[in-house]
Amino acid sequence: MAIVSSNAGREPAKPASRLVDPNPTPGASEENPGANPELIQREDGLRPKRFADYIGQAELKQVLAIAIEATRSREEALDHVLLYGPPGLGKTTMALVLAEELGVRCRITSAPALERPRDIVGLLVNLQPRELLFIDEIHRLNRVAEEILYPAMEDFRLDLTVGKGTTARTRSLPLAPFTLVGATTRAGSLSSPLRDRFGLIQRLEFYGLDDLQAIVQRAAGILELQLEQEAALEVARRCRGTPRIANRLLRRVRDVASVRGHQQIGRALVDEALSLHRVDGRGLDASDRRLLTLVLEGYGGGPVGLDTLAAGLGEDASTLEAVVEPYLLQLGFLQRTPRGRIVTPAGRAHLGWAAA
Ligand code: ADE
Repeated sequence: MAIVSSNAGREPAKPASRLVDPNPTPGASEENPGANPELIQREDGLRPKRFADYIGQAELKQVLAIAIEATRSREEALDHVLLYGPPGLGKTTMALVLAEELGVRCRITSAPALERPRDIVGLLVNLQPRELLFIDEIHRLNRVAEEILYPAMEDFRLDLTVGKGTTARTRSLPLAPFTLVGATTRAGSLSSPLRDRFGLIQRLEFYGLDDLQAIVQRAAGILELQLEQEAALEVARRCRGTPRIANRLLRRVRDVASVRGHQQIGRALVDEALSLHRVDGRGLDASDRRLLTLVLEGYGGGPVGLDTLAAGLGEDASTLEAVVEPYLLQLGFLQRTPRGRIVTPAGRAHLGWAAA
């Protein structure tokens, strides 16, 4: 697989997208970016490439596998797919798996890179039939880009305005049938006209312990680490239900193992490495504990409004809501109520506070 930086606009300094080709042609050049055999980023070595390697998200895989099979038999582009859920659960990975399963290339970009109309236009006109266009953080698309996407998604048509003022006219250009895969941590922030144009809307869930343990074991195999089952389970317990974090923690464990000269990695070593990085037994990190502590110390355990919390922590409210809170809610340490956030008895107990 090859990943190549390329720019849909004309300023090479700021790449608007990169391209992933499941079947790269050796020796291809920058002018033919889809086939450039450039090395893959480090993280990508651990990414599953096919449904068969992708652990967990059973329902999502089932829905997408059926859609792919039906699409293949009709020889059409796959319907547009919206993937939503907390960061790190595998939205980008799933888009790449879809491309691999369909045997097509995937153009990867993110909404903030599509500043000017020509950024999105450049991407759309360069898509080949049935290719995937992956737009991360799609809730951040600007209005103009969104309006360009409507006819593109619905009728594979680009409506361009030519000229200005009274002489302005609309010209339509046909596009290749393609699949837009949108990813967002905030499905509620998508405008409804955009959301309604996706045929498949799927949520990614936090992973269960068994799946996480299997993901950690698989990554350990790829990294050629001898990781005991108990050690894999300990990483799984402490990764916030999130494979990206599991792989990150595993790399920190590998650092400690190599410094200590351990060939075999057991649970004690995982504990040592993760304590060093202040990741506690349930996977909470410093920002989780800061949030819970602020609610407990500053507001008697809540309720307290999100904006007040964000101001107190010096964080962006939407980041707190989409990135920090979901795992605390999932653990049952925090509750969202109409009057604000509350730390639950389980959350109090975890931080060593006596019952209220
Ligand atoms: N690495 C990261 N996410 C994964 C997943 N869902 N399955 C297997 N390996 C992974």
